[in-house]
Amino acid sequence: MALLQVENLNVTVDGKRILNGISFRMNKGEICAFMGPNGSGKSTLAYALMGHPRYKVESGRILLEGTDLTQSSPTDRAKAGLFLSFQYPAEIPGVSTEGFLRAAYNSTRDNKAGVMEFHKMLLESMNELKISPQFAARHINEGFSGGEKKKMEILQMSILNPKLAVLDETDSGLDVDSLRTVANGINKFINPDAGVLLITHYQRILQYVKPHTVHVMMNGSIAATGGSELTSEIEKQGYDWIRAERHGKLPGKGS
Ligand SMILES: Nc1ncnc2c1ncn2[C@@H]1O[C@H](COP(=O)(O)OP(=O)(O)OP(=O)(O)O)[C@@H](O)[C@H]1O
Ligand SMILES: [Mg+2]
Repeated sequence: MALLQVENLNVTVDGKRILNGISFRMNKGEICAFMGPNGSGKSTLAYALMGHPRYKVESGRILLEGTDLTQSSPTDRAKAGLFLSFQYPAEIPGVSTEGFLRAAYNSTRDNKAGVMEFHKMLLESMNELKISPQFAARHINEGFSGGEKKKMEILQMSILNPKLAVLDETDSGLDVDSLRTVANGINKFINPDAGVLLITHYQRILQYVKPHTVHVMMNGSIAATGGSELTSEIEKQGYDWIRAERHGKLPGKGS
């Protein structure tokens, strides 16, 4: 059974149609990359998957392991095993990173972790991601640098251990070492029961993290689907050739 199945998804934001007939599926154990020009609808897809109230699914379905989540609340989606890292992570003053993570962890589990048990688990994960233990006591994302916020998202993912992690430009703004650390975090997370939907602009991260499928979005639709070779082609040629091909303007493709 597919880990995620998206069927003919049409989404509006504030009454404006943004996504048009998005359909794709991904299996457990797979990394699925989404690329595409600015404004093509990648983040909209991520928010729609998480059930953000502003993103209205007009028609279509979202199934996680065969369970229809299209109408579920964000909390129920998180409980079902969905995780979203934001392109622009929020700061939450007054809430410690450790407290926040422990609450998030315990909210999705029947077996609640105690304070000490959770602290130990957190420190192990922080160590793996080369995040200084002092971040545990800091207020979530407050004053964190861009790269630190991104690493924090990967930490959240590894602690919460979702079935499907949707990572929206987690690789943007990372220095080379942090990029490798984040990529390692993703590779460590991926397992036969879980998948990652990776939204990215750059081939850079895809040198470390190997996607099974690459989808290219344009104007709210999936315009091309392929393997890793598609990312190198985009790096070399940009997106215009996909646009041209889509509109049948390439030689030999008819007109
Ligand atoms: N409230 C809104 N009203 C009108 N248009 C909106 C609204 N919210 C988003 N959009 C439009 O939807 C389109 C898709 O935006 P989205 O953020 O999904 O793009 P993206 O592919 O993630 O781009 P980027 O690569 O820059 O992050 C954009 O053209 C954006 O301006
Ligand atoms: Mg975006």
